[in-house]
Amino acid sequence: MKEDKTIRKKIAELERESRKLCDFSAQQNLLNKSATEYAELFYHSNHQSKAFQPFDDTMYQIFDKPLSEEGTDSEEIFSFIEKYIISPGLNSASGRNFGYIPGSNLFASAIGDYMAAVTNRYASVYSLSPGPALLEDRLIKWMAELVGYHTGAGGYLSSGGSIANMTAVVAARDHAGLTGKDYPRAVAYLTKHSHHCIDRALNLAGLRECIRRYIPMDDAFRMNPRELNNQIIDDVNKGFIPWLLVATAGTTNSGAVDPLDEIGSIARLHRLWFHVDAAYGGFFLLTGHGRRKLAGIELSDSVVLDPHKSLFLPYGTGALLVKDVNHLVKSHDYQANYLKHVESENVIYSSADISPELTKHFRALRMWLPLKLHGLKVFKEALEEKLLLANYLWNEFSNMKDIETGPPPELSIFMFRWVPKAGDPEEMNRKLREALLQDGRIFLSTTEADGKFCFRVAVLSVNTHLKEADILVDVVKEKIGEINN
Ligand SMILES: Cc1ncc(COP(=O)(O)O)c(C=O)c1O
Repeated sequence: MKEDKTIRKKIAELERESRKLCDFSAQQNLLNKSATEYAELFYHSNHQSKAFQPFDDTMYQIFDKPLSEEGTDSEEIFSFIEKYIISPGLNSASGRNFGYIPGSNLFASAIGDYMAAVTNRYASVYSLSPGPALLEDRLIKWMAELVGYHTGAGGYLSSGGSIANMTAVVAARDHAGLTGKDYPRAVAYLTKHSHHCIDRALNLAGLRECIRRYIPMDDAFRMNPRELNNQIIDDVNKGFIPWLLVATAGTTNSGAVDPLDEIGSIARLHRLWFHVDAAYGGFFLLTGHGRRKLAGIELSDSVVLDPHKSLFLPYGTGALLVKDVNHLVKSHDYQANYLKHVESENVIYSSADISPELTKHFRALRMWLPLKLHGLKVFKEALEEKLLLANYLWNEFSNMKDIETGPPPELSIFMFRWVPKAGDPEEMNRKLREALLQDGRIFLSTTEADGKFCFRVAVLSVNTHLKEADILVDVVKEKIGEINN
């Protein structure tokens, strides 16, 4: 009895302390205020901030400080966030970020994330959280329709394109019935411009030994269907096992769209799983131009779209769509006694049943909220704007003295390189890259095409408009002028 009393007293003492984590006290209110003020300032001033802030590698020392036993004042926290966490390096949310695949920062998505964290619903299991599960299911159905899939399609919202591509590879592997002994003879078809995550997905799916055939590309870096067909026939004749064909709808390097129609027919002819990586290009299907460019995507068995790319969401949301959801069900089959009670009628598939994740962030809210708030029309117009901006910029660069441009943008990416009158072009382009990084007003990433160093211009940020495009042209001209002098 006495022992009980002591325990209760101790628990009460601990409760007084632990409640501090949840009390909506002055501290939380202050945090809320600081966060709101920070976000407002960020949204209003980001168009003036640098796209890249050079940093000193010794900054790691600041992060080495151990966490303290006592808490920290929220003002101090926010000044740390601004100075050391947010400012250094790439400002991915800048409208003057033309590097990699530019990111966006829709406010409605940020609120979606906030609400998801506040309410912390179990989004991956329908019988526990029907609302979140239905929301995800409806978003998947909307995207499946966009791609041209019919009833029976399914998929899930992932953390990004790499994981979604990996899940597709796993489903394709299981559909082909490949087991260990087959791997050294199994063949996957792709191009040298396929995203590296496909290669990694094969490795992670246990298929490191699988043969990869990099199909030659045409002058615009698109897979050559004739070469593909010949290669498959040759492989079959030699006793190999062709099983997977990966096309890209918008390559990261140059924005090229593989000829999906022709490739899809070849996949069907040879009974290969046809996967389309449309992580970057997928949502251009919302535009007339995109629908024409991506014609044939409906022939695929699976598609990856990244809402955190061409739907302007902040990082953290990809999507896998599979024409026949049963493939995902089969690959993710599991038994767990501790989950028996949550089984329910299959009104819909819970994402926990058709994807690798169990507990997951309630991603659907950050995607649904902006679509619901703004409506689809404005997304279509924003995507059309980015397509036109890329064309406008390609013309500007093509007309610039001593600049060589790659193929015109099929979507919103193109390449260019400086071909100076004097000096080694490789060295001069590297100098230009360094000068642009040090300046920081705009950000461009680089790549290689036909063995040559190239800049890439990727127009996709929701914050990129005519003004930002003109700044890009001016800054590149200015830096070339400075290097020349
Ligand atoms: C065509 C393509 N596929 C896949 C990916 C990987 O997606 P994530 O970075 O979301 O993992 C990217 C990323 O840029 C991409 O451009």
